[in-house]
Amino acid sequence: MKIELLKKSQLGKILAIQEAVLEEVGEAQFSPVPRNQISCRLHQGLSFGAYVDDNLVGVLVNFLDEAALPIYATKMGIPINLDAGYAQFFYIVAPAYRGQRIANQLLNQAIHAARQQDVQHVVATVAVDNVASLKMLFENRMQIRYAGNVYGEKIRFITHQDLRTPQNVDNYSRQYIASADIAAQQKIISQQFVGVGIQTSESGVAIGYEKMAPPEQATHQR
Ligand SMILES: CC(C)(COP(=O)(O)OP(=O)(O)OC[C@H]1O[C@@H](n2cnc3c(N)ncnc32)[C@H](O)[C@@H]1OP(=O)(O)O)[C@@H](O)C(=O)NCCC(=O)NCCS
Repeated sequence: MKIELLKKSQLGKILAIQEAVLEEVGEAQFSPVPRNQISCRLHQGLSFGAYVDDNLVGVLVNFLDEAALPIYATKMGIPINLDAGYAQFFYIVAPAYRGQRIANQLLNQAIHAARQQDVQHVVATVAVDNVASLKMLFENRMQIRYAGNVYGEKIRFITHQDLRTPQNVDNYSRQYIASADIAAQQKIISQQFVGVGIQTSESGVAIGYEKMAPPEQATHQR
């Protein structure tokens, strides 16, 4: 498997993978990104494709939904603007190639590239029961900053990472909350906690929340 930058000429293939995933999981789980929002940032060097034997089997795309950006900023309480440098990712891996850490590597590479371009804010939205996606987001230090309605009636987490000033957390404050319990998560987020980890068990999926800490009090940086 090799990872390479996506180019504008690959727009058709990206749309085809997105279409296939929509048929597989439906819009409740995956919100399709419109063509113009995908194409407008393909030239920026933050979108990557995974290839096996020259076939595109996974994509991670930096897209731009300008109307949504101020809504995300308000919901998370973070003053994000385009001038500060902003990347928003969606990612898809073809079903036959899942579980091989392809999405994880794509995200890792994209965050590395974003840091090199001095992008400050990285954002990704995710369905509350998308375990694979949540695992790779947390492994790449994305933090849940909002839980609730994002696209109309759809319930999502908004995850964020500040690449210039990483948000430190206090590991000793960790509390687990069922990922389906949106009210409890909204409450803990309002108490200055962020989601940083996931635990799966027979009783379901739980998100680990830790309290935000100022740099000098941090016990660990995620
Ligand atoms: C989410 C998605 C991109 C993950 O791709 P992937 O390459 O299979 O992910 P990875 O192999 O990097 O796996 C990440 C973690 O999730 C785990 N995982 C993978 N599939 C899983 C599943 N169906 N259920 C639970 N865990 C799963 C992996 O074991 C791995 O965990 P680990 O680090 O503890 O080993 C892929 O499942 C997908 O395309 N889903 C449909 C589209 C979508 O939901 N995109 C995300 C929203 S933008």
